[in-house]
Amino acid sequence: MGWKLAAVLLVLLIKYTNADCTCYEPGNYTGRLAPISNSFDNSDFSSCYTPCSFLAYSGDDTRRWGGLTINWGSVEDNSGILQIFDGTDITGIPLIQLSAGTNVLSGSTKNLIKSSQPRITIKYTQTGTGANVYYGVIKATPGLQASTLPINTVAPTTNT
Ligand SMILES: *[C@@H]1O[C@H](CO)[C@@H](O)[C@H](O)[C@H]1NC(C)=O
Repeated sequence: MGWKLAAVLLVLLIKYTNADCTCYEPGNYTGRLAPISNSFDNSDFSSCYTPCSFLAYSGDDTRRWGGLTINWGSVEDNSGILQIFDGTDITGIPLIQLSAGTNVLSGSTKNLIKSSQPRITIKYTQTGTGANVYYGVIKATPGLQASTLPINTVAPTTNT
C-alpha cells in the first residue's frame, strides 16, 4: 500500500515540476518553412509552458520571412505572448507580437508582414503555469524589400 501511494506522489511530482519540458525548436532553425509550436513534455508529449526562443535563418541572404500563420488550440494561460523579432536583436520592438489565443490566418495583416533581414528570432514567454497549445509556420521567400505593413512604428512626421 505504502509504495503505491509513493508511486502516485512521484508521478504527480514529475507532472507538476515540469522537469521534462522541451522547446519545440530546441536549437536554431535553418530552412524555408520554420515550424512554430508550444513546448512539450518528453514523457507524454503533453503541452508545457517553458519560455522558448529560437533563431530562424533562411539560409539565403536574399530571402526574408513572412506569411506567418498561427492557430491556438487550447489557451489555459492568457499571459502567453509570441513575439517575432526582425533579426537577432530581441531588445527592441518586435516585428510581430501576438497574445495567447490570437490566430493569424492567411491574408490577414500580420500574415502579410515581412522581415527585413534573413534572420528572425521567435520567442514565446508566459508568466503563469497553464499550458497553451499553438502551432503554425513562417516562410522564407525571395525579395529584398522590407515590410510594407510595419506595425508598432511611429508615424513619420514632415517638416514644412
Ligand atoms: C542560436 O543562435 C544564437 C545567435 O547566433 C546563439 O547565440 C545561440 O547560442 C544559438 N542557439 C543554439 C541552441 O544553437
